[in-house]
Amino acid sequence: MCGIVAYVGHQKAQPIVIKGLKRLEYRGYDSAGISFFNNDTLFTYKTKGKVSDLEEILNGEVSDATIGMGHTRWATHGVPNNVNAHPQASNSGNLVVVHNGIIENYASLKEELISRGFEFHSDTDTEVLVNLIEDVQKKEKVKLGKAVQIALSQVVGAYAIVVFDKRKPNELIAARLGSPLAIGVGENEFFVASDATPFVEYTKNVIYLEEEHLAIIRRDREVRIRKIKNDKLIKPYIEELKLSLENIQKGGYDHFMLKEIFEQPKAIKDTLRGRLLSNEGIITLSSLREHENKFLKARRILIVACGTSWHAGLVAEYMIEDYTRIPVEVEYASEFRYRNPIIFPDDIVIAISQSGETADTIAAINIAKEKGAFVYGICNVVGSTISRITDTGCYTHAGPEIGVASTKAFTTQITVVSLIALYLGKANGTLSRFQYQESVTELDNLPTKVESILSLKSYIEEVAHSFKRAKNCIYLGRGYNFPVALEGALKLKEISYIHAEGYPAAEMKHGPIALIDKEMPVVVIATKKGYYEKVVSNIQEIKSREGRIIAIVSEGDTQVKELADYCIEIPESSESFAAILSTIPLQLLSYYIAVHRNCNVDQPRNLAKSVTVE
Ligand code: M6R
Repeated sequence: MCGIVAYVGHQKAQPIVIKGLKRLEYRGYDSAGISFFNNDTLFTYKTKGKVSDLEEILNGEVSDATIGMGHTRWATHGVPNNVNAHPQASNSGNLVVVHNGIIENYASLKEELISRGFEFHSDTDTEVLVNLIEDVQKKEKVKLGKAVQIALSQVVGAYAIVVFDKRKPNELIAARLGSPLAIGVGENEFFVASDATPFVEYTKNVIYLEEEHLAIIRRDREVRIRKIKNDKLIKPYIEELKLSLENIQKGGYDHFMLKEIFEQPKAIKDTLRGRLLSNEGIITLSSLREHENKFLKARRILIVACGTSWHAGLVAEYMIEDYTRIPVEVEYASEFRYRNPIIFPDDIVIAISQSGETADTIAAINIAKEKGAFVYGICNVVGSTISRITDTGCYTHAGPEIGVASTKAFTTQITVVSLIALYLGKANGTLSRFQYQESVTELDNLPTKVESILSLKSYIEEVAHSFKRAKNCIYLGRGYNFPVALEGALKLKEISYIHAEGYPAAEMKHGPIALIDKEMPVVVIATKKGYYEKVVSNIQEIKSREGRIIAIVSEGDTQVKELADYCIEIPESSESFAAILSTIPLQLLSYYIAVHRNCNVDQPRNLAKSVTVE
């Protein structure tokens, strides 16, 4: 949550920072601000609202400043307003800070600073931090980097920060604990940002700052990195950035979400590339091959994740148990971390996360590691925290997902899970050769099937039109389609603000059926393989109570067609892979309902793409 961008070099900082903030708006968009330093003066502009509102305030004027920083906020402490927006300045006005994270002990630090004469104007924890740094500077008479280091050692919480002191006009200090920071290293210029997207067109050299590291970044000098705790100097590790400008643009689509839905055939292919040789019947996943025994001897597999990734975890539970007979449990990372879970050293924990930065998932991983479990990560963002703190893992390679609503991340997570389940099922002999080969071929054919579902776009848009005024919606599915129902409901509520709930279809009669009347849309996933007849009975029950039925069915279905108000036909598949296929029309349905309701699809209210606070 919150996006940070900073620049020091020889170009004008303001346009670089503003453009960078726009790319990071997925991280939060309730207020925005910028500071830059020019002709001995520090200028700060802040506003409630989006980066475009900030641009309006700047009124087309572009400063010549070559050092600056900006912030796009997702409020944690203090309502979104101009005063609480970042950058936050110290009492003397010498220091400014942009911050992503939460300073948990800010209240006690604030009290102490007030007792020493500091005044506070905002409700933010960040204003406490910037004044704490100033206090250290005054007391200890140390350089800026050292002052930041001392101040951070008193802080409890999470942060990614950039600090600027107007008496040091060639220097930026960046530090992180629990929130990500990337440093772009150009020709005599440096970029600092919450991810690498703000500087992708300027440099392909990136340093991903490690936990509890602090970087001193000076114009025309090399970056110096120190450990915050023990001051140890660290040699910067510069990696090649494998991201292109094209990846992070809308490419002609109205929204990133739509682009990302349509990218799924390619994203799934990219996930499978080099890992699935379907003709030979080979799955190669080095992270599994190297640790095959651990997996095969595992007492249990525990899956931890949040949101959509948790739904992918549920599909994983069904699939891994089905194919391998290894017991699997799926937990919300936010519950797991606080409920004193039983973790055996021979358990394997799989953490699933698109961003690789979700605070609760990171905390769950740390607990699992403390208890001696082996942790496997499934992430999309290359170089993310989760990809680095897990023992091993597998990237989904879906490419950047910018729309707040997760789409291609979900289907590629299930693709990775399928590879894992098939690999292990073959290795421990629980899958017959025939089942294995059949599934491998089917997996290989998924992108083509997804492509054909996407061609139903116009029909789904029509269906969406009929439901744009709905106030509630129920999603039902059984077996592998139950997690899909949960995911469909989450997609609808987060982008269209329609209240929606997903249920296992058979649970309906244990309560939710009371809600059904002629106003209630019910989305039922009734694909051929699995529990088709049972789901048809559930549809009958809804029909008898006059519910409006939108059904996702397999091509050629006749039975459900007679009962449902709308039928969306998808290619037939095995029960397990239906989870991927039936998700696609639900994504499109939510998308078009949200568009018809004039909602901000890519940046829904109150949300942020990367949830780096608990
Ligand atoms: O980056 P992660 O996969 O760890 O994120 C988890 C959730 O925050 C995320 O899936 C969220 O639920 C999405 N907005 C759903 O579309």
